Amino acid sequence: MMRIGRPRYAKCACRSTASPGSESSFGGWPCVAQSYNPAAPMVRLHVNVDHVATVRQARRGVNPDPVGWALLAEQAGAQGITCHLRKDRRHIQDDDLKRLVKKVRTLVNLESSLDPEMVRIALASKAQCICLVPENRQEITTEGGLDVAAERRALAKVLPLFARKGQIVSIFIDPDPKQLAIAAELSAPFVELHTGSYANAKGKAKERELERLRKACEFAYDNGLRVNAGHGLDYVNVAPVARLPHVEELNIGHAIVSHALTVGVHLAVRQMLAQMGIAK
Ligand code: PXP
Repeated sequence: MMRIGRPRYAKCACRSTASPGSESSFGGWPCVAQSYNPAAPMVRLHVNVDHVATVRQARRGVNPDPVGWALLAEQAGAQGITCHLRKDRRHIQDDDLKRLVKKVRTLVNLESSLDPEMVRIALASKAQCICLVPENRQEITTEGGLDVAAERRALAKVLPLFARKGQIVSIFIDPDPKQLAIAAELSAPFVELHTGSYANAKGKAKERELERLRKACEFAYDNGLRVNAGHGLDYVNVAPVARLPHVEELNIGHAIVSHALTVGVHLAVRQMLAQMGIAK
């Protein structure tokens, strides 16, 4: 298959003003976000803060604040912050998104469904990255990838709108060559490969799922798509995914937020970066 000559690494969208390699104010750890070299072949960690908001929404109060938590995750080395504003507003609220966009120094990756109201909000949000996801009100979390074959027309309509705003779109997609081929035909800049089946599989099935992801990475890259991955990744299963070819960014939420309840945000992020091979 023809390799399309796209650059592998985009210019870093980090808005940090600190000098490269400087230490963060948090416990003297070197700030990975600030020393990150976008030319180096290294996967980035985007931390999903949805479940910080889930805990807050249990009481409909103000604590814990996903924005303050996101800033701590950044100080620990997260290279981006992800959130999903769902139509039912079960965790992240509109005001959280506005405050995240204002305060996050690296970049905000907003997950959005193709629902017209959510697309309007995403377009107006000033989030640097948009990940288009399926959304089903009954689900506990995002279940499968977006069916790009079924959503082809809607995607063809919205992709240029995001491009005009300078927002970088990824489509959350199963590691399926048929779906990937359509994403490539639509000239989507990125896909985020759904790692849920890999995360849930055991034994030989896990190896098969990893191989399916590897093939999907190669197929996507060969067809001009840039590759992110995420869903269900944790401290145990992340390393093989971080080493997959062409993967630029992992979106990880539940495992980091859960671990942070025990060890704190800083250590939870640092330990994930270490498992990904980014930091010690
Ligand atoms: N990527 C996408 C597109 C998602 O919808 C989610 C869940 O919000 C994640 C990654 C993160 O999944 P997890 O919380 O299991 O790490």
